[in-house]
Amino acid sequence: MSHEHEAQGREPEPAAGAVEVPRVLPEVGRPRDAIFDEMTALAADDRDWRTGRTFGLVFDGGEDVRAVGRDAYVRFMSENALNPMAFPSLGRMHADVVAMTAGLLHHPRPSGDVGFMTAGGTESLLMSVKAARERGRARGVSDPKMVIPTSAHAAFDKGGESFGVEVVRIPVRGDFRADLDATAAAVDHRTVLVAGSAPGYPHGVIDPIPELAAVAAGVDANFHVDACMGGMVLPFMEQLGEPVAPWDFRVPGITSISVDLHKYGYTPKGASVILYAEEARRLDQVFLFDGWSGGFYASPAMLGTRSGGPIAGAWAVLQYVGASGYRELTRVTLDAARRIAVGTRAVDGLDVVGEPDMTLLAIRGAAGSGLDVFAVEDGLKARGWHLDRQSDPESIHATVSRGNVAAVDDFLADLSAAASEAAGHRADNRATTYSSLD
Ligand SMILES: Cc1ncc(COP(=O)(O)O)c(C=O)c1O
Repeated sequence: MSHEHEAQGREPEPAAGAVEVPRVLPEVGRPRDAIFDEMTALAADDRDWRTGRTFGLVFDGGEDVRAVGRDAYVRFMSENALNPMAFPSLGRMHADVVAMTAGLLHHPRPSGDVGFMTAGGTESLLMSVKAARERGRARGVSDPKMVIPTSAHAAFDKGGESFGVEVVRIPVRGDFRADLDATAAAVDHRTVLVAGSAPGYPHGVIDPIPELAAVAAGVDANFHVDACMGGMVLPFMEQLGEPVAPWDFRVPGITSISVDLHKYGYTPKGASVILYAEEARRLDQVFLFDGWSGGFYASPAMLGTRSGGPIAGAWAVLQYVGASGYRELTRVTLDAARRIAVGTRAVDGLDVVGEPDMTLLAIRGAAGSGLDVFAVEDGLKARGWHLDRQSDPESIHATVSRGNVAAVDDFLADLSAAASEAAGHRADNRATTYSSLD
């Protein structure tokens, strides 16, 4: 049940175009055509991201990029990355992807041995927590805690719960970046992890990474940079001559950085990378067990069996797009995000939260306007747009990627119309909508 529905205490309505799918295993297999027809029918109410009206959730590099990713994925979907000794191809592609990413992030010794691929940003963040806990344990911390800004992704809390690390969240400053003084005051000998984002999801701003790294170093804690969103954009912004605050391995004191390839790397889903500055910290992430009758078990992250699909998809797409291709993707997407920001501020009653550093932005009611941005979102939803609602401040979130570029003018026209309609109205439903269980 989604938060939205939980909040209202009722079951979700069945989707309008939903078909009756049998909920039992058919005794006799069904014809392939019938199955695929039914899938097409089932997808009738899905967001059609191909129109560019879905912000976030889908990162589409265009038809050719999608085809390269798909074909590479399908070619290796049955191969199992659980054991690269059985599939050296996957071991090699994994190492290449890690090395390419490490090079982009100015790792001092970029190679295939400085990190791991995971299934996504959440798994990478979980691993940053696990690695920090292990280092803390080694120096005798039995009741570890992490200190992170309120803007850091919720997966850190999932990591805290999973690995027994208390989460202390520090409210962000007026510019929505991590509060250094409050972070410095909150860390102590129990602190095993401090984290910052480049940029954070909610407001799209980069935390003061060098200063946070220094705070972490002061208490021998790990410092993780969540660049799940920025890792495949910021390097290319810098190459384009755009101003970018320091965030990568050139900053002293960073322990690890996560970069999602399945976001702005435009690779098939299931692909993130976590990179470590030092080998000892990387080894803190892995799980080794030699007491099982099934044999020696070595596991770098949360999963056991892993399809080779995401690894092959990432390997192929990174090379197909290349640095110049990513610069171009970055250029057009940044331009689109900036047009949306300028266009939003031109709409009476609307404003952008803070000063976004790249291609993520949040739209709010302008101070003193009384405009309810959730009522504006209702109007956008009715026009087929998908944006997430978030809190603190109440705002609607747009992760702008290549697929949205052609739709910017339509979006601004609909935003303006939805804002006019919303004047004087307040949406009844105040629930926020990042993700749900159904
Ligand atoms: C900054 C940041 N970190 C982590 C994540 C989690 O990534 P995933 O959804 O791939 O698990 C996200 C997802 O949007 C994100 O924006």
